[in-house]
Amino acid sequence: MDQEKVIVIDFGGQYNQLVARRVRECNVYCEIYSYRTALKEIVAMKPKGIILTGGPNSCYEEGAPAYQKELFELGIPVLGLCYGAQIMMHILGGKVENAPVREYGKTKVLIDKTSLLFSGVPETTVCWMSHFDYISKAAPGFLVTAHTTDCPVAAAEDTKRNLYALQFHPEVLHTQEGTKMLNNFVRGICGCSGGWRMDRFVEDSIQEIRKKVGKGNVLCALSGGVDSSVAAVMMSKAIGSQLTCVFVDHGLLRKNEGDEVEEVFGSQGNYELNFIRVNAQERFYVKLAGVKEPERKRKIIGEEFIRVFEEEAKKIGSVDFLVQGTIYPDVVESGLGGESAVIKSHHNVGGLPECVDFKEIIEPLRSLFKDEVRTAGLELGIPEHLVFRQPFPGPGLGVRIVGDVTADKVRIVQDADAIFREELANAGLAQMIGQYFAALTDMRSVGVMGDERTYDYAVALRAVNTVDFMTAEAAEIPFEVLQRVMGRIINEVGGVNRVFYDLTSKPPATIEFE
Ligand code: XMP
Repeated sequence: MDQEKVIVIDFGGQYNQLVARRVRECNVYCEIYSYRTALKEIVAMKPKGIILTGGPNSCYEEGAPAYQKELFELGIPVLGLCYGAQIMMHILGGKVENAPVREYGKTKVLIDKTSLLFSGVPETTVCWMSHFDYISKAAPGFLVTAHTTDCPVAAAEDTKRNLYALQFHPEVLHTQEGTKMLNNFVRGICGCSGGWRMDRFVEDSIQEIRKKVGKGNVLCALSGGVDSSVAAVMMSKAIGSQLTCVFVDHGLLRKNEGDEVEEVFGSQGNYELNFIRVNAQERFYVKLAGVKEPERKRKIIGEEFIRVFEEEAKKIGSVDFLVQGTIYPDVVESGLGGESAVIKSHHNVGGLPECVDFKEIIEPLRSLFKDEVRTAGLELGIPEHLVFRQPFPGPGLGVRIVGDVTADKVRIVQDADAIFREELANAGLAQMIGQYFAALTDMRSVGVMGDERTYDYAVALRAVNTVDFMTAEAAEIPFEVLQRVMGRIINEVGGVNRVFYDLTSKPPATIEFE
C-alpha cells in the first residue's frame, strides 16, 4: 500500500511502540525502524516525517547509538524525543551533559516561544520527564522554545531545517498535551493528511487479498482469539469459501469456549468459510498425563497442536496460502522492526509454516497494533464479546494449572474461572482490569465442609492491571466481590476447599500461573 507515512527511528527507548501508536491515533500511518537502518533505506520509504525515540544511553559516550548527520539535512521534518533530542543536538554541535538534577515524572514545562509544535497548547503544561542527561546548550541555529525548573532546553527548534527537539515524552499519557504536540508535528509540520483510517484499511486489505489469492485455496488456524478471528473474518469477506479454518479444541480452552467459537464461525454462523473443528481433547490429555514441568507442558501442547493441524491440512489437500494472525508488535518484538527487540519467549501454538505444504503466508494484520485490530474487527462486524476478549495464551489452561494436567483439573479451573469472570462482569469491573482468570494450584490441604473433612485443591484468582503485559500490578478488587467469588467457587465447584487472591506483581511473578 503506497501511503503517506512517518518513520520512528528507535534508539532502544521503552516507549518506542507507544510513539508509533500515538502517531496512528492522529490517523497517520507510521512504522518503527532501528537506528541501524541505513539512511538510504529510510529515504527510499519517502517518509513525510521522522521521529527519533528515547533510549537508555548517554549520547556522548563511545559506541552510543547515533545516526549520520545527513539525516538532518534531508529537509524532511525530524522530531527528536528525549535521547532523540539529545542525539540531534550532540550531532549538530550543541552540548549534552549529565544533568545536575535528574528529572523523572510529571514536570511543569513553560513554553517561552510561539511554535507550530505547541499550537493550541497553554503556556504552562505538564509533561513526562525521564532523563539523567540534559541539553545544556542547543545546537547553532536552534531556538529554545520551552524550559522547566531544572532543564533549560525542554524544547528547541530550527524551523529553517525543519528540526524539532523535545526533552520530554509527548507519547506518554501523563504529558497532558502530548497527543496535541504529536498531532501538530505529523499533521501541521509534516503535512500529513490523516488518511489512516480503519474502514479504509479494511476495504483496501480485502481488495488486496482478493488480488493476491486469485482462485487459490487458503488455510487458517483459528484459535478464537482476537487476532486469528479478525484475520479469518477479513479473509472470509475477501474470498469466501476458498478459505478453510481449522479450529483445534485442545481441551484447554475456557468454559464453553469451543462451542462459542463454533457458533460464530461454524455452519450456523455469519460467515462464509469452511469451518473444521477438531475435538482433540483426549489426545492432549494423554500426552500431558503426569507431566509437571511447565516448559515441558508448553512444548507438548505446541507439538501436539502441530500434529493435529498437519493431519487436518493433509485431508484438505493442496493449500496455496496459509494465514497467520501476526500483528505489528510481534513484528517489532521479533527484532524485525525496532531496536528494543524483546525476544518473545511466548509462542502461540506455532511453527505451523514448517509442517504444512503451502506456497505463501498471508498476514493481513501485520501492520496493526492490538487496538487497531479490535477496531478493524468492529468494522468487519465481529461481535463485541469476541473483539474485546482478553488475551488468552496459546497453551490455554495448560499454563493455568500448576503441576500435571488432568480432565478433572481442567473442569475445576474452567468452572472457577467462569464464576470469577461472571462476578467481575456483574460488579462492572470486567472492562477495567487488564487480564483476569482463575488458576489451579497443585496444593491440596485439609478443610471441613458440613461435617466432613476434605482434602482438596486451592484455586488462585489472578487479576492484573498492565499497559504492555511486560510489567503488571495486582488489581484492587473490592473485598466483597472477592468474597462472593470465593463463596460461589467453594459451593459450586467440586474439589476445591480454598480460594486465594494473588497479590504479586510482575516482576517478580508472571501474569500467567504455571
Ligand atoms: P506472562 O505470564 O509471561 O504473560 O507474564 C504475559 C502475557 O502473555 C500471555 N501469554 C501468552 N500468550 N502464548 C500467547 O499467545 C503464550 O504461550 C503465552 N504465555 C503467556 C499472557 O496471557 C499475558 O497476557
